[in-house]
Amino acid sequence: MSSPVPSPARYTVTAALPYANGPVHIGHLAGVYIPADIYSRYLRLQGRDVAFICGSDEHGVPITIRADKEGITPQQVVDKYHAQIRDTFAGLGISFDIFSRTSHAVHHETSQQFFLTLHEKGLLEVRESEQFYDPARGQFLADRYILGECPNCHNPNAYGDQCERCGTSLSPEELINPRSALSGAVPEKRLTSHWYLPLDKYEPWLRSWILEGHKDDWRINVYGQCKSWIDQGLHPRAVTRDLDWGVPVPLPEGAGKVLYVWFDAPIGYISATREWAAHAGKNWEDYWKRPDTELIHFIGKDNIVFHCIIFPTMLHAEGSYILPKNVPANEFLNLEGEKISTSRNWAVWAHEYLEDLPGKEDVLRYVLCATAPETKDNDFTWKDFQTRNNSELVAILGNFVNRTLVLTQKFYDGRIPAYSPAPAPEADQALAAAIAGAPARIGQALEGYKFRDALTELLDLARLGNKYLADAEPWKTIKTDEARTAQVMHLAAQLTAALAVLMEPFLPFTATKLRQMLNLQGSFHWAQGGAIDLLRPGHALGQVGLLFEKIEDDTVERQIAKLQAMRTPAMTTEPTPIPAAAEAPAEPSFIGIEDFAKVQLKVATVLDAVPVPKADKLLQLTLDAGEPQPRTVLSGIAQHYTPEEVKGRQVVVVANLAPRKMRGIESQGMILMAEDPATGKLAFVSPTAVVPGGAEVR
Ligand code: 2FM
Ligand code: ZN
Repeated sequence: MSSPVPSPARYTVTAALPYANGPVHIGHLAGVYIPADIYSRYLRLQGRDVAFICGSDEHGVPITIRADKEGITPQQVVDKYHAQIRDTFAGLGISFDIFSRTSHAVHHETSQQFFLTLHEKGLLEVRESEQFYDPARGQFLADRYILGECPNCHNPNAYGDQCERCGTSLSPEELINPRSALSGAVPEKRLTSHWYLPLDKYEPWLRSWILEGHKDDWRINVYGQCKSWIDQGLHPRAVTRDLDWGVPVPLPEGAGKVLYVWFDAPIGYISATREWAAHAGKNWEDYWKRPDTELIHFIGKDNIVFHCIIFPTMLHAEGSYILPKNVPANEFLNLEGEKISTSRNWAVWAHEYLEDLPGKEDVLRYVLCATAPETKDNDFTWKDFQTRNNSELVAILGNFVNRTLVLTQKFYDGRIPAYSPAPAPEADQALAAAIAGAPARIGQALEGYKFRDALTELLDLARLGNKYLADAEPWKTIKTDEARTAQVMHLAAQLTAALAVLMEPFLPFTATKLRQMLNLQGSFHWAQGGAIDLLRPGHALGQVGLLFEKIEDDTVERQIAKLQAMRTPAMTTEPTPIPAAAEAPAEPSFIGIEDFAKVQLKVATVLDAVPVPKADKLLQLTLDAGEPQPRTVLSGIAQHYTPEEVKGRQVVVVANLAPRKMRGIESQGMILMAEDPATGKLAFVSPTAVVPGGAEVR
């Protein structure tokens, strides 16, 4: 018998450090901060030791570009946005143990020390290379200071580190017709030297740690991105830059250079923990260096490579740190059918939401959790926001609580009636069992980072409560059967108390409000969310009111009008808007070339084909797609072709589809087939002449 996995002694939960160059929007909240907060609150309610860490990311070119644009200093930029972001998070109940800043001295010291340790261990390589230099401004052009045409989608305004239109990560050398973002001048190349982290040397370790070690517990989108990075081959990455804004390189020969922002920012989690621990009377090293600590990074999908490959390699190379146990990255949230865009001002800004809809913090938390882009990009619409508030929060959760508390006031003068006599009728036993099992059901979903499922479980409990009241009809039985009515009202009240405990991670403001209405004092353990004795017979309720209010049409219409009025015209760097599904366009819905460019199609030769046991539709194919290792792809063609008919054929495979497990076998791609609409027969899509395996299909 295997011994049970010991539960960790403590948790370090980090949420991506937002750049202090602008406010946060609902995409950030849904992707990172709301799930991270729900998770941390849940752990705390379980009595676990948690350090929930965040702060602002105050270095890097995004900050200096904003300063140039606004005609202020980088320090003024970060001071302004740090305070605004901190207050917004607080306003939404994001319960960080610390919200620090990477401009703090402790961070400069921590990241410099980290760099020095790697340097002293001989783990960094110094390389001389030619970098772009703006002769007009007299400075090197790092990352976003250089613009040019994307070699992939031909966006004329791609950045030196990434094309925001097609998402490709780039190096400045790859840009066509590069130019300086500062002066527009054609840059020259000048020699400079930098320190590099030789990621290529860590490839075998990364393969074993991620590809073997986290195959089953990391989200498929996270695992798939890591796999594709590793499979494409890792290269040394420069960890310093020729800039004057950032953490100075702590070596005499590094004068005038700073640490690359993606080197210092994740170390910001460690510095913030140090700062917090010093105030909280804790030992920061427990949270970063002890193997019985679980480290979890909450991030958006654009940060996956930094948190899954580069930062863990830094931690591993340094040698004294633990590695992340999981990195539950979310996909992106769209808004009204279009990609959220800061530059086009197509966003719901969190600080404006708090001003426009005061008292509705939990409604936003609820909607963003219910629509969180956990497995694929998702869409936020103001209509859906209204519907979820009115039909779920008001009509299900609020309605159950309100009916229970109002009837308790009416029938029993606000005092909880006693439950007697036992034994309980079947309906009561079923409800009590559902309550008792709720902490485990919700907890299991949360521990699997399935926040939407967890929220559904919570709401289902209130649904059960409504059904219980509707079936028992205490408003009728009060005239005919006092004993039964008391049983029903007693149990319904216990359920409201259980909900007050269980809703806290998701809806902390509402949980406080409900506990005041229930006059529930003290703090509760998560497990007590399954108790049916939180309210003693005779316990007097507090002042009862509505938990949620209906949102009227004009409220959301105002928000939609505001969005449209505030949007700035599309810039060429922005991707083509995604058409809103709800407004079925009259024209065919086109995709841009950049969408097509995301799909990697390759010719592959079928080396082998075998049936899959207990799956009569599937064949397991072994493909030569011109890669070092053959690929395994499961294809639903077994009822159309025998293995013999398939072997040796050339097929087209979607090569960058996230791997998926079926029948215990990982399928690494998908074969294109054409379907005859009349007969349903499938035909292979193949090149008309033999081409080498791996040839691109464009
Ligand atoms: O993408 C971003 O907004 C970055 N500022 C996230 C940094 S996360 C961490 F590494 F600090
Ligand atoms: Zn591009």
